[in-house]
Amino acid sequence: MNFVGEHILSVSQFDRADVDRVFQIADKMEPYANRQKITRVLQGAILSNMFFEASTRTRVSFGSAFNLLGGDVRETTGVSQSAIAKGESLRDFAKVMSGYSDVIAMRHSVAGSVAEFASASRSPVINGGDGENEHPSQALLDLYTIAKELASRDKTIDELRIAVVGDLKYGRAVHSLLKLLAVFDSVSVNLVSPPGLQTPPEIVELLQNQGHIVSTFERLEEGISAVDILYVTRTQEERFSSQEEADRYRGLFRVNEAIYTQHCEPNTVIMHPLPRDSRAAAQELSEDLDNNPNLAIFRQTDNGILIRMALFALVLDVTDRIEEHSSPVTWNTRIRTRDP
Ligand code: NCD
Repeated sequence: MNFVGEHILSVSQFDRADVDRVFQIADKMEPYANRQKITRVLQGAILSNMFFEASTRTRVSFGSAFNLLGGDVRETTGVSQSAIAKGESLRDFAKVMSGYSDVIAMRHSVAGSVAEFASASRSPVINGGDGENEHPSQALLDLYTIAKELASRDKTIDELRIAVVGDLKYGRAVHSLLKLLAVFDSVSVNLVSPPGLQTPPEIVELLQNQGHIVSTFERLEEGISAVDILYVTRTQEERFSSQEEADRYRGLFRVNEAIYTQHCEPNTVIMHPLPRDSRAAAQELSEDLDNNPNLAIFRQTDNGILIRMALFALVLDVTDRIEEHSSPVTWNTRIRTRDP
């Protein structure tokens, strides 16, 4: 992949070298994300951040990542606030918005919509989630987190043993992560979901065709033993056609301290793309794990900034000029980094 000027719509665009390249640039972003230095390398550039479906961390971290590189951000949120509500096609919308922007990040509830938009866009488009289909930047930040967590345990993504738990049918973060894992070697995947919310068969086939081991489980306790990474997901209630369906699946799988301690190997890393559903009836990932050092969920969200900075720097072709446009931080950064 060349990256420069390219749309980023699916993890299928990435081979192993591309993943390594993103991670290498993400590492270089640490001093800026940590406010040790600032850079203005994207001064004058405009990101249009267009989120037509609920989002906080993806939208804000795309925007913050762009700001941290010195660029400006324009936002549109919700279909009702945009001309799409007046019947404008995604293609017309793309022609207009791409004239206002150097790069666009977009989320939309319909699978394939971001690619349709991109096909008419004059600026590169990054998919921030299209329906149940894909969420490539989430998969990259998840994989980056996995690599870092494993490195501290003397392990690599090759030979990884991972359990993914929950709504594997509609979870686009999981779809992209599983597809991206397929480019590594000898991965062993436990798919743990209730009947009716299983992983799409084409993703299972992709993994199997690349020689990975895929096992499916309907019981949580069986699927989460003997793994390095336990990746829990929220039931995507917004994709269900009826309330009855949402009620049927809510709270079926709950990972908590007791289950974790009893069934997982010591030091199994716990991940979740967030948001977790903390309502009493759901709680797929209990807050009683919050003090467990293996809970990586907030390291994941922090890594999202690094990965999104890296994607912007690659697509806008500034990876070699970040340092050149850097300067010291002027404010007291200790205020931000202190523990609560
Ligand atoms: C995920 C998403 O929107 O697909 N969230 C996110 O971007 N971090 C997962 C989810 O909403 O459950």
